[in-house]
Amino acid sequence: MQNPALLFVCLGNICRSPLAEGAMRAAAERHGLAIEIDSCGTAAYHVGSPPDPRSVETAAAKGIDISDLRGRQLAQEDFIRFTHIFAMDHHNLTNIEAVMPAGSNAAVMLLMDMVPGREGAAIADPYYDGEDQFEITWQDVSAAAEAIVRALT
Ligand code: 4NP
Repeated sequence: MQNPALLFVCLGNICRSPLAEGAMRAAAERHGLAIEIDSCGTAAYHVGSPPDPRSVETAAAKGIDISDLRGRQLAQEDFIRFTHIFAMDHHNLTNIEAVMPAGSNAAVMLLMDMVPGREGAAIADPYYDGEDQFEITWQDVSAAAEAIVRALT
């Protein structure tokens, strides 16, 4: 069986999914799990860009450095490379499913589906909001990262 390989997907890959990647890397490290972790966006607006400064600051406040991440767009190869593809919201999920190649074995779902009691919930896009919304994003992706660790151990 393929080792777990987790991909976190939002729209721009500068706000939510870099925070999800950072939270997951930190949780995996805390629990001694060696798993592949990455993030991307369904759109190409921010390819090559660092995360939004508000995301970088939110992670830094938790002791996690995501400043070296760079935006990239979801690619066909991702459906082979990753066992799990986690969408931040329903719009992302629809866009991922629209480009999923026939024969893909990747499990595609909402990230919050992993958190008991939060199934079907979206992680709201904080891009047009203030710092408070980034903290809420952080709480959501952290809860999901811990739930994923529990599912894998
Ligand atoms: P993200 O947030 O999908 O969480 O990275 C956004 C980033 C950029 C844009 C929208 C959402 N944008 O329209 O450029």
